[in-house]
Amino acid sequence: MTRKPLPLLSTGHSGGSRSAMTCLYRCGNACDHPVPNESGNEYFGDMARAEVSRRGVLQAAGAGAIVLGLAGAGVAGAPEAASAASGEAESAANGWRPGRGPQPLTFGAVEPNTADALTVAAGYAQSVVIRWGDAVVPGAPAFDAYQQSPAAQEKQFGYNNDFVAILPLDHSDRHALLVCNHEYTNEELMFPGFTGLANLTVEQQKTAIAAHGMSVVEIERVLGTGQWRPVTHGRRAYNRRITALSTKFRLTGPVAGTASVRTAADPAGRTVIGTLNNCSGGVTPWGTVLSGEENFNQYFVGADGAPEEAKDSLDRYGISTAVRYPSGSRMWDKADPRFDLTVTPNEANRFGWIVEVDPFDPDSTPRKHTALGRFKHEAANIVIAPDGRVAVYMGDDERFDYLYKFVSHKRYRPGDKRHNLTLLESGDLYVAKFRYTSAADIDGSGRLPGDGAFDGSGVWLPLVRDNRSMVEGMTVEQVLVHTRLAADKIGPTKMDRPEDVEANPVTGRIYVALTNNTQRGTADKAPADEVNPRNVNKHGHILELVEDGGNHAGTTFTWSIPIVCGDPADPATYFAGYDKTKVSRISCPDNVMFDRSGNLWISTDGNAFGTNDGLFAVPLSGPEAGHLKQFLTVPKGAETCGPALTGDGESLFVAVQHPGEISGASWDRPASVWPDGDHAKPGIAVVWHPDGRSIGR
Ligand code: FEO
Ligand code: CA
Ligand code: CA
Repeated sequence: MTRKPLPLLSTGHSGGSRSAMTCLYRCGNACDHPVPNESGNEYFGDMARAEVSRRGVLQAAGAGAIVLGLAGAGVAGAPEAASAASGEAESAANGWRPGRGPQPLTFGAVEPNTADALTVAAGYAQSVVIRWGDAVVPGAPAFDAYQQSPAAQEKQFGYNNDFVAILPLDHSDRHALLVCNHEYTNEELMFPGFTGLANLTVEQQKTAIAAHGMSVVEIERVLGTGQWRPVTHGRRAYNRRITALSTKFRLTGPVAGTASVRTAADPAGRTVIGTLNNCSGGVTPWGTVLSGEENFNQYFVGADGAPEEAKDSLDRYGISTAVRYPSGSRMWDKADPRFDLTVTPNEANRFGWIVEVDPFDPDSTPRKHTALGRFKHEAANIVIAPDGRVAVYMGDDERFDYLYKFVSHKRYRPGDKRHNLTLLESGDLYVAKFRYTSAADIDGSGRLPGDGAFDGSGVWLPLVRDNRSMVEGMTVEQVLVHTRLAADKIGPTKMDRPEDVEANPVTGRIYVALTNNTQRGTADKAPADEVNPRNVNKHGHILELVEDGGNHAGTTFTWSIPIVCGDPADPATYFAGYDKTKVSRISCPDNVMFDRSGNLWISTDGNAFGTNDGLFAVPLSGPEAGHLKQFLTVPKGAETCGPALTGDGESLFVAVQHPGEISGASWDRPASVWPDGDHAKPGIAVVWHPDGRSIGR
């Protein structure tokens, strides 16, 4: 049965950079709630006293030249070389192969637009690989919006694809696994006749619960092109849906089995049903996928009836203890009482973790690694330290929250997957504190300080080390379950929403997308500092971090800000000193990726200019450093997610998340009709060049 949808006439964003629908469905109206971090752990005066003179390897940034040795091309210097080796190891798992040094990005920039289309750079081709409702598990029923069910959704591609990994199945560049996260649901865009979250049936709620999670899909290359499509024949033994409805996860690490995570349904405290709000992620050197449970708070109700002693932590994680149903609640307690914290107060402690899935073992039980701490995990990306331990970089995506690093106790053993699968079960957990070179110059305007660079040094403050809590008055169990509260006590730096954190596989340098923070410097909130240099930061910035001595297991680093996002005509922007008349405007960086040359690719979420989100690329070294250009834009109301490149650099996968998520839109009155011309459906597209050139050329 099909019905012709009525177009939604008003498609403007409802104030700010985000549609109100985004706030409601994705974050549970987080912007309407108080900033969860009310701790007074750091203030400007502290940093002025901590000012350091050390400038490290980024000294030249002020002159507009970021000094990056391209170790992948064989640059001397032990630290960088060590990092490059680790990058190669990481690359092996996703089939990524380093190129031969920097390659120019020669594509023509896509202009900002509000088109209801995936608009790619001139000359490139695109196609939809898979969309919400398409078959994943063999035998899945054909999608029918009017006949949705939990059973069907558990076999079909889930909603709101975010992180994308492409894992080669052989060495032919022709077969791969596509692994993706399904972060959240837009019930108003999913269900025909939607009249409000409170009016959904339990069947519809369970369908939405099943639309969360992850998908593993076998894909094949269309011969002679960069196009890819799902395999539709044969066993497809790897194909799998992981859902919030029924997939069992095993807890690992120090919190597994403790009182914090025991419930009536799981008295042993070791088995959790489902994963929630999986945002971005990473691929491990041993070929598994990590995925961050981000805004898990929004799924729980009844915290007003939770035990009093639990309320500080619930509030710190954005779970309202004032009312039974916070605004935007999906009221899933009707479908499953475990979402009611009055009944099951520990259930929320079983979410907010980094999960690990082995897509090459379809019968494996996914795990939640408690040693990596519990917060609103954006993603997790691994670098192998020179001594073989693995460092996992992680952002806690909330205004004024922190940047974290986990360092495993055990060492990576190439080729020993059974061993490597245990690496994230024990280790040390750190949180970042930044020190400044120009603290006195920072006035919140975003203008470069007198020394010409936002830069400094920093330390990784230990939260847990050698299996001991480093936080006074808290046990290891408490530090790992209530990580935000633990971090507040030791004084890390409050950041402007740390999203993706990834190492450049060519140089080993770490890049952090700080997406925005419009409350920076407002009444009683932390003011700008050198590492978050703008008050009312609408457009965000990119942070570069270099571990001292190239030691990713170490505790000190230097840092600088190569890109301060926004309109290049705005003096409060910076593009590594490049001529700003030649760069694209960019707002709200979210996910990052690197190509074979070490160029940085940045996807955006929440473009504060009101035009569509997009994907941008920028060289980080050489004369083109800072020459940022827009490569594609996504349809109306969508956010750009993924992105992922194949190992040969010839196919780019991009996840179009929540197309048509604009206030007032619904299934029946869509604001976007991407990708099929009728209703809005999240989906993953692939972009390639018909002449086979590398993406970006
Ligand atoms: Fe789900 Fe922080 O983006
Ligand atoms: Ca400085
Ligand atoms: Ca994100």
